[in-house]
Amino acid sequence: MPVKVLCQAGDGIEVRALHRGLAARIYQMVRSEHARLERFLPWAQHTQSLADTLNFITQARDAFIQGKAVHGGIWVENDLVGMMALEIRSPNDQIANIGYWISSRSEGKGVMTRALRAFIDYSFSEWPVHRLEIYCATANVRSCRVAERVGFQKEGTLRGARKVNGEFLDMNLYALLQPDWRARGKAAG
Ligand SMILES: CC(C)(COP(=O)(O)OP(=O)(O)OC[C@H]1O[C@@H](n2cnc3c(N)ncnc32)[C@H](O)[C@@H]1OP(=O)(O)O)[C@@H](O)C(=O)NCCC(=O)NCCS
Repeated sequence: MPVKVLCQAGDGIEVRALHRGLAARIYQMVRSEHARLERFLPWAQHTQSLADTLNFITQARDAFIQGKAVHGGIWVENDLVGMMALEIRSPNDQIANIGYWISSRSEGKGVMTRALRAFIDYSFSEWPVHRLEIYCATANVRSCRVAERVGFQKEGTLRGARKVNGEFLDMNLYALLQPDWRARGKAAG
Protein backbone atom coordinates (compact mmCIF):
# COMPACT_ATOMS: atom_id res chain seq x y z
CA MET A 1 0.00 0.00 0.00
CA PRO A 2 1.59 3.37 -1.00
CA VAL A 3 2.22 5.62 1.98
CA LYS A 4 0.41 8.94 1.80
CA VAL A 5 2.32 11.51 3.84
CA LEU A 6 0.10 14.37 5.01
CA CYS A 7 2.91 16.43 6.54
CA GLN A 8 6.52 16.19 7.70
CA ALA A 9 7.91 17.69 10.89
CA GLY A 10 11.61 16.82 10.52
CA ASP A 11 13.71 14.22 12.36
CA GLY A 12 11.67 11.46 10.72
CA ILE A 13 8.38 12.67 12.27
CA GLU A 14 5.48 12.44 9.81
CA VAL A 15 1.71 12.34 9.83
CA ARG A 16 0.52 9.74 7.35
CA ALA A 17 -2.98 8.89 6.16
CA LEU A 18 -4.62 5.91 7.84
CA HIS A 19 -5.52 2.72 5.99
CA ARG A 20 -7.14 -0.57 6.96
CA GLY A 21 -3.79 -2.38 7.00
CA LEU A 22 -2.97 -0.47 10.20
CA ALA A 23 -6.06 -1.62 12.09
CA ALA A 24 -4.40 -4.36 14.15
CA ARG A 25 -1.53 -2.08 15.14
CA ILE A 26 -3.83 0.77 16.14
CA TYR A 27 -6.14 -1.55 18.06
CA GLN A 28 -3.22 -2.99 20.03
CA MET A 29 -1.91 0.48 20.84
CA VAL A 30 -5.28 1.69 22.06
CA ARG A 31 -5.95 -1.44 24.13
CA SER A 32 -2.52 -1.48 25.73
CA GLU A 33 -2.98 2.16 26.79
CA HIS A 34 -6.71 2.21 27.30
CA ALA A 35 -6.63 3.25 30.96
CA ARG A 36 -4.50 6.29 30.14
CA LEU A 37 -6.47 7.25 27.01
CA GLU A 38 -9.89 6.74 28.60
CA ARG A 39 -9.18 9.47 31.16
CA PHE A 40 -9.80 12.16 28.56
CA LEU A 41 -10.86 10.52 25.26
CA PRO A 42 -14.41 9.12 25.38
CA TRP A 43 -13.96 7.00 22.21
CA ALA A 44 -11.21 4.93 23.85
CA GLN A 45 -13.65 3.03 26.06
CA HIS A 46 -15.69 2.05 22.99
CA THR A 47 -12.66 0.37 21.35
CA GLN A 48 -13.31 -3.17 22.52
CA SER A 49 -12.42 -5.25 19.47
CA LEU A 50 -10.49 -5.14 16.21
CA ALA A 51 -13.84 -4.69 14.45
CA ASP A 52 -14.31 -1.39 16.32
CA THR A 53 -10.98 -0.12 14.99
CA LEU A 54 -11.77 -1.30 11.45
CA ASN A 55 -15.09 0.48 11.71
CA PHE A 56 -13.33 3.65 12.88
CA ILE A 57 -10.90 3.53 9.91
CA THR A 58 -13.80 3.00 7.48
CA GLN A 59 -15.68 5.97 8.96
CA ALA A 60 -12.49 8.07 8.84
CA ARG A 61 -12.02 7.21 5.16
CA ASP A 62 -15.65 8.08 4.36
CA ALA A 63 -15.33 11.39 6.22
CA PHE A 64 -12.17 12.18 4.24
CA ILE A 65 -13.89 11.42 0.91
CA GLN A 66 -16.75 13.72 1.96
CA GLY A 67 -14.29 16.51 2.87
CA LYS A 68 -15.36 16.42 6.51
CA ALA A 69 -12.23 15.18 8.26
CA VAL A 70 -8.77 13.74 7.95
CA HIS A 71 -7.25 11.24 10.38
CA GLY A 72 -3.54 10.49 10.35
CA GLY A 73 -1.07 8.32 12.17
CA ILE A 74 1.95 10.00 13.75
CA TRP A 75 5.11 8.17 12.75
CA VAL A 76 8.70 8.47 13.91
CA GLU A 77 10.68 6.78 11.17
CA ASN A 78 8.84 3.44 10.79
CA ASP A 79 7.25 3.48 14.21
CA LEU A 80 3.57 4.36 14.57
CA VAL A 81 3.42 6.34 17.84
CA GLY A 82 0.09 8.21 17.87
CA MET A 83 -2.77 9.76 15.98
CA MET A 84 -3.92 13.21 14.89
CA ALA A 85 -7.19 14.33 13.35
CA LEU A 86 -8.81 17.39 11.82
CA GLU A 87 -12.61 17.50 11.77
CA ILE A 88 -14.57 20.27 10.09
CA ARG A 89 -17.06 21.48 12.70
CA SER A 90 -18.71 24.33 10.79
CA PRO A 91 -18.08 24.40 7.01
CA ASN A 92 -19.79 27.76 6.62
CA ASP A 93 -17.60 29.40 9.26
CA GLN A 94 -14.53 27.37 8.23
CA ILE A 95 -14.00 26.09 11.77
CA ALA A 96 -12.31 22.74 12.45
CA ASN A 97 -11.28 20.83 15.57
CA ILE A 98 -7.93 19.15 16.06
CA GLY A 99 -7.51 16.10 18.29
CA TYR A 100 -4.43 14.04 19.12
CA TRP A 101 -2.83 11.39 21.30
CA ILE A 102 0.57 9.78 21.55
CA SER A 103 1.73 6.52 23.10
CA SER A 104 3.34 6.75 26.54
CA ARG A 105 6.73 5.59 25.22
CA SER A 106 6.87 8.66 22.92
CA GLU A 107 5.42 11.14 25.41
CA GLY A 108 7.47 13.98 26.84
CA LYS A 109 9.91 14.18 23.92
CA GLY A 110 8.36 17.01 21.91
CA VAL A 111 7.11 14.68 19.17
CA MET A 112 3.51 15.85 19.53
CA THR A 113 4.47 19.52 19.52
CA ARG A 114 6.44 19.13 16.30
CA ALA A 115 3.83 16.92 14.62
CA LEU A 116 1.09 19.38 15.58
CA ARG A 117 2.95 22.38 14.12
CA ALA A 118 3.35 20.53 10.81
CA PHE A 119 -0.29 19.40 10.92
CA ILE A 120 -1.48 23.00 11.49
CA ASP A 121 0.48 24.11 8.39
CA TYR A 122 -1.10 21.25 6.45
CA SER A 123 -4.60 22.08 7.77
CA PHE A 124 -4.45 25.77 6.87
CA SER A 125 -2.89 25.02 3.44
CA GLU A 126 -4.94 22.05 2.30
CA TRP A 127 -8.32 22.50 3.98
CA PRO A 128 -10.86 25.34 3.85
CA VAL A 129 -10.17 26.35 7.44
CA HIS A 130 -9.94 29.80 9.01
CA ARG A 131 -10.14 28.84 12.69
CA LEU A 132 -8.77 25.78 14.45
CA GLU A 133 -10.04 24.72 17.86
CA ILE A 134 -8.70 22.33 20.48
CA TYR A 135 -10.78 21.24 23.46
CA CYS A 136 -8.70 20.04 26.43
CA ALA A 137 -9.99 18.97 29.81
CA THR A 138 -8.72 21.46 32.40
CA ALA A 139 -7.15 18.49 34.21
CA ASN A 140 -5.28 17.44 31.05
CA VAL A 141 -2.28 19.62 31.81
CA ARG A 142 -0.05 18.02 29.15
CA SER A 143 -2.55 18.61 26.37
CA CYS A 144 -3.20 22.22 27.45
CA ARG A 145 0.57 22.79 27.43
CA VAL A 146 0.86 21.42 23.86
CA ALA A 147 -1.94 23.71 22.62
CA GLU A 148 -0.37 26.76 24.28
CA ARG A 149 3.17 25.86 23.15
CA VAL A 150 2.21 25.87 19.46
CA GLY A 151 0.36 29.19 19.75
CA PHE A 152 -3.29 28.45 20.46
CA GLN A 153 -5.02 31.02 22.68
CA LYS A 154 -7.24 29.96 25.54
CA GLU A 155 -10.63 31.58 25.01
CA GLY A 156 -12.37 30.22 28.07
CA THR A 157 -13.48 27.22 30.08
CA LEU A 158 -16.67 25.34 29.24
CA ARG A 159 -18.05 23.93 32.49
CA GLY A 160 -19.10 20.28 32.55
CA ALA A 161 -18.84 20.16 28.77
CA ARG A 162 -17.68 16.56 28.20
CA LYS A 163 -18.86 13.35 29.83
CA VAL A 164 -16.06 10.83 30.27
CA ASN A 165 -16.55 7.67 32.37
CA GLY A 166 -19.70 9.14 33.86
CA GLU A 167 -17.96 12.33 34.97
CA PHE A 168 -18.62 15.78 33.49
CA LEU A 169 -15.30 17.46 32.73
CA ASP A 170 -14.59 21.18 32.47
CA MET A 171 -13.02 21.83 29.06
CA ASN A 172 -10.64 24.61 28.03
CA LEU A 173 -11.37 25.98 24.57
CA TYR A 174 -8.24 26.91 22.61
CA ALA A 175 -8.31 28.55 19.18
CA LEU A 176 -5.88 29.61 16.47
CA LEU A 177 -6.75 31.81 13.47
CA GLN A 178 -5.13 31.33 10.09
CA PRO A 179 -3.90 34.97 9.74
CA ASP A 180 -2.26 34.80 13.18
CA TRP A 181 -0.50 31.54 12.26
CA ARG A 182 0.70 33.01 8.95
CA ALA A 183 1.94 36.17 10.69
CA ARG A 184 3.87 34.05 13.21
CA GLY A 185 5.46 32.09 10.38
CA LYS A 186 6.55 35.30 8.62
CA ALA A 187 7.90 36.75 11.86
CA ALA A 188 9.90 33.56 12.44
CA GLY A 189 11.38 33.98 8.92
C1 LIG B 1 -1.55 15.24 25.46
C2 LIG B 1 -0.35 14.56 24.89
C3 LIG B 1 -0.51 14.38 23.39
C4 LIG B 1 0.89 15.43 25.15
O1 LIG B 1 2.05 14.76 24.68
P1 LIG B 1 3.52 15.24 25.09
O2 LIG B 1 4.45 14.21 24.66
O3 LIG B 1 3.52 15.70 26.50
O4 LIG B 1 3.69 16.53 24.19
P2 LIG B 1 4.98 17.14 23.52
O5 LIG B 1 5.35 16.39 22.32
O6 LIG B 1 4.72 18.57 23.33
O7 LIG B 1 6.14 16.92 24.59
C5 LIG B 1 6.33 17.89 25.57
C6 LIG B 1 7.53 17.52 26.41
O8 LIG B 1 8.64 17.24 25.56
C7 LIG B 1 9.74 18.10 25.90
N1 LIG B 1 10.45 18.39 24.65
C8 LIG B 1 11.61 17.82 24.29
N2 LIG B 1 11.98 18.28 23.08
C9 LIG B 1 11.04 19.15 22.67
C10 LIG B 1 10.86 19.93 21.49
N3 LIG B 1 11.76 19.92 20.49
N4 LIG B 1 9.74 20.69 21.38
C11 LIG B 1 8.83 20.71 22.37
N5 LIG B 1 8.95 19.99 23.51
C12 LIG B 1 10.05 19.21 23.66
C13 LIG B 1 9.08 19.31 26.56
O9 LIG B 1 9.98 19.97 27.41
C14 LIG B 1 7.97 18.65 27.33
O10 LIG B 1 8.49 18.07 28.50
P3 LIG B 1 7.64 17.86 29.84
O11 LIG B 1 6.69 16.75 29.52
O12 LIG B 1 8.63 17.50 30.86
O13 LIG B 1 6.94 19.16 30.10
C15 LIG B 1 -0.11 13.17 25.55
O14 LIG B 1 0.09 13.37 26.93
C16 LIG B 1 -1.27 12.19 25.34
O15 LIG B 1 -1.37 11.58 24.30
N6 LIG B 1 -2.14 12.03 26.36
C17 LIG B 1 -3.24 11.07 26.31
C18 LIG B 1 -4.31 11.45 25.27
C19 LIG B 1 -4.77 12.88 25.38
O16 LIG B 1 -4.97 13.38 26.48
N7 LIG B 1 -4.94 13.55 24.24
C20 LIG B 1 -5.35 14.94 24.17
C21 LIG B 1 -6.81 15.09 24.34
S1 LIG B 1 -7.29 16.83 24.27
